[in-house]
Amino acid sequence: MKSSNKNVFASKMGAILAAAGSAVGLGNVWRFPTETGANGGAAFILIYVLFMLLLGVPIMVTEFAIGRHGGQDVSGAFEKMSGGRKGWRWMGLIPVVSGFLVLSYYAVVAGWTLYYAFEALMDGFVGKTAEQFKTDFATFSSDSLHPVFWTTLIIALTCGIVALGVQRGIERGSKIMMPLLFLFILVLVGCSLSLPKAHLGLQFLFQPDFSKVDSSVILSAMGQAFFSLSVGLGCLCTYACYFRKEVDLMKDGLSVASIDTLVALLSGLIIFPAVYSIPDLSPDAGPSLVFVTLPNVFQQVFGGMPWLAYIFSLVFYLLLVMAALTSSISMLEMSAAYFHTTFRLPRPLAAVMVSVVCVVLSIFCSWSFGDWQDVHIFGLNFFDLFDFLVAKFIMPIGGMLMCVFLGWVVDEKVLRAELTNNGTIKSPLYPIFRFIIRYFAPLCIFLIFANELGLFAF
Ligand code: PFF
Repeated sequence: MKSSNKNVFASKMGAILAAAGSAVGLGNVWRFPTETGANGGAAFILIYVLFMLLLGVPIMVTEFAIGRHGGQDVSGAFEKMSGGRKGWRWMGLIPVVSGFLVLSYYAVVAGWTLYYAFEALMDGFVGKTAEQFKTDFATFSSDSLHPVFWTTLIIALTCGIVALGVQRGIERGSKIMMPLLFLFILVLVGCSLSLPKAHLGLQFLFQPDFSKVDSSVILSAMGQAFFSLSVGLGCLCTYACYFRKEVDLMKDGLSVASIDTLVALLSGLIIFPAVYSIPDLSPDAGPSLVFVTLPNVFQQVFGGMPWLAYIFSLVFYLLLVMAALTSSISMLEMSAAYFHTTFRLPRPLAAVMVSVVCVVLSIFCSWSFGDWQDVHIFGLNFFDLFDFLVAKFIMPIGGMLMCVFLGWVVDEKVLRAELTNNGTIKSPLYPIFRFIIRYFAPLCIFLIFANELGLFAF
């Protein structure tokens, strides 16, 4: 069904695609393979999928319920859902602060992808050796200005889309980019699986070795599940403010999580078979996996057919750029929406203001790979600090607070009405959902944290 109100997604499909666009991003195509490689492969994936189902989806539905119930802005949503208690408005500041933090470091990697797409377009990878790819990436990422230029460009593109508004910018952008993304992924999976040692990549992805699992693997799997689904920061809460009343929140949550998991696994199917096709390459190459390892793989594997190497590289980096953009618009929207609704600033002005601050912060993050690599706070450089704060701290704590809010503060009748669309749809999973947000999720997140802080040992 269509709506003419510009501050809601025009169709149900638009709402799903926008939320899926936020979820599917570099977290799936860049962070997931990196984390999977670093944490031992299949066992990590199993734990990650479990966290997706038991924590990620319920927290996503929690965000949807709060946002849609509230209508126009997140602070107001918490106030309205708590039955009019103004004290809960502060929770609306979580997405504002998180939006700045997450976009500032995410845009650095997104900028790299834009530069690599440009290089691929210009046929810049031809004839390079593995060693050259490595030094080129190190030289590029540690430069003071070059990566900053691409990061600024990606933030500017993001700003342009957000400034256009909910329907013309976010919804239309997601509707165009998400299907294209799927198409690209399928083409690349097909090519990768036809490589000679593809079965070794499949083994790495699907044969669990639980001896590698320790508490840090568990925390990483939880962080990855939260990051990949964009939950815990209030991002989906912000989007849900634009959901129509007919949207089935539980069904949408499951659809978005399924799309997200599928894309992560498909990215694994692109990357690991390709990595194993070259001797001496290892799946735990870390963040440089998709910038050093893969262009090298494309050149070597398709060396005999240069046009295939060209297409493979170009399509892959375009895919990364689109995945990054659909997520970065949701990050910018979190903070921009606040200034737009709370201070009544015009949407484009709010978007530009937030973008300018993010460009400045992103310079600190970008320099973490070069001039400022020795500048450490709590033992971490700016980039790692922002990633740690977002994925391993604010996301789980934010998710826990939202569960406690919805499970213990909100009147049960209000919650049930929201999830059943005022009794007009059946919600068979409601009792399980309520159990998870009241008991399971808060306790589970607390225990993992206590373990990590050394207060308690598994
Ligand atoms: N889920 C996105 C990804 O996988 O790339 C990243 C993300 C988007 C995190 C929005 C947080 C957020 F609020």
